[in-house]
Amino acid sequence: MIAEYATGEDIWQWRCSAISDAAGFGFSAREVDWLLIEVTGLDYLALHLGSYKEIAKIPLKRSLVELSRLWQEHLENSLPLQYVAGSLPWRNLTLKVSPKVLIPRPETEFLIDIVEVLVQKEPYLQDGVWVDLGTGSGAIAIALAYLLENAQIYAIDTSPEALSVASDNVGFYNLNSRITLLRGSWWSSLDCSSRTTITGMISNPPYIPSGDIEQLESNVKDHEPLLALDGGEDGLRDIRYLVESAPDYLCSGGVWLIELMIGQAGTVVELLQNQGNYKQIEIYQDFSGVERYVLARRK
Ligand SMILES: C[S@@+](CC[C@H](N)C(=O)[O-])C[C@H]1O[C@@H](n2cnc3c(N)ncnc32)[C@H](O)[C@@H]1O
Repeated sequence: MIAEYATGEDIWQWRCSAISDAAGFGFSAREVDWLLIEVTGLDYLALHLGSYKEIAKIPLKRSLVELSRLWQEHLENSLPLQYVAGSLPWRNLTLKVSPKVLIPRPETEFLIDIVEVLVQKEPYLQDGVWVDLGTGSGAIAIALAYLLENAQIYAIDTSPEALSVASDNVGFYNLNSRITLLRGSWWSSLDCSSRTTITGMISNPPYIPSGDIEQLESNVKDHEPLLALDGGEDGLRDIRYLVESAPDYLCSGGVWLIELMIGQAGTVVELLQNQGNYKQIEIYQDFSGVERYVLARRK
């Protein structure tokens, strides 16, 4: 992912000028350092002390010209820093991102922790086929592949642009033999033989009510893909579909696990109970105490 090399002196000058721009827009110098850590691989201390200034050749994930253009977009139009850098740390991974995919959030990491605890208690869940529905950058699928060493994973998205980013990430981690990328709406790209055979389904679907999108921060509503955000009139359009459709695909005891937004968990539990094919329905909270995840098992 190296785009070009720069001297330490060039990076030092770029940093000074970016810090001064940031101050003009009321942003913190920390943003500049976050960006440079991501793009140059230098650490915070080196940036702070300027100990890199004498280095003749520092690899960059983006050219300084491109970085300057995107940095201006950040200052003037709130382009998220992760899109400026073109990558971000997520769990123990570094993932490529572009405005064609949602920026994976820290809360989503917890979905993987939930699966980790489940497979410790029930090791047979390690095997079989898992699906990441609405894979975006491929974050969940890749983390699952590391966690479930014997599982085969389908990473599915309806957006070809998202799948292209996911494909780069899967390739970067050499997981092409473990993760199959499929384009289609939810389960539609799986063939009939997958029915009642899937060990686990994980999804972080679009769940924001259409009418709330306009109220989101500009860095989200103006730059992240609407397809990744908009969950229909009440935000539950896709979750409702996943409740209804998953029993056709999950094996008995199969895992149904999704992320949702504040205020939706109670309704989703009711939907699962009323559907009739689920058991062991549980709500989990995120770091801030928000009911953010619902786990259920296929009867
Ligand atoms: C909230 S994003 C989650 C992305 C990624 N899994 C993550 O957690 O960072 C929702 C994803 O669902 C995808 N999506 C939306 N509608 C879909 C559909 N009908 N079928 C499959 N994927 C869909 C979007 O393209 C987007 O990548």
